[in-house]
Amino acid sequence: MPCAPSPDRPARGPAALALLLLLVLACDQGGGVVITDGDRRSARSHFDEYCSTCHGEGGKGDGPAGIGLKPRPRNWTDREWQESVSDRRIRDVIREGGVPAGLSAEMKPNVEFAEEPGVIAALAEIVRGFRR
Ligand code: HEC
Repeated sequence: MPCAPSPDRPARGPAALALLLLLVLACDQGGGVVITDGDRRSARSHFDEYCSTCHGEGGKGDGPAGIGLKPRPRNWTDREWQESVSDRRIRDVIREGGVPAGLSAEMKPNVEFAEEPGVIAALAEIVRGFRR
């Protein structure tokens, strides 16, 4: 339980409450994972160098290596899709690749981040950020 307040330091006063709230929010975003600035930097450069070649810089599935794929990567600006998919599923596909989720094998697992859930969660944040 990395996100639970430690039992020997009970929350006291408004400051502690605010801290607790912040922690809960941070946890909620990444599904129990706290995302650090370093995680966000790694995710951003990985996205720009790798993911965007298929998914496109604007997340529309129109990167140079994505445009000819069948099926093509989907358009992440599509609000209906964004609402239909859970954070959990987005993270799972990024970590394990498309095949276990019944998607294209062109979507490869990102094994280099298998032990870095913060980077996976930060990549999922980027995917969410394309929602219009
Ligand atoms: C070689 C091209 C390619 C690269 C590189 C790539 N993807 Fe994908 N990605 C795909 C394809 C193709 C699909 C699945 C489309 C389908 O089956 O509907 C997909 C699916 C996904 C999905 C699931 C979306 C859905 O429809 O549920 C996510 C999330 C995703 N990719 C994130 C990423 C991230 C993050 C990276 C970089 C770490 C990345 N992809 C790199 C081609 C790629």
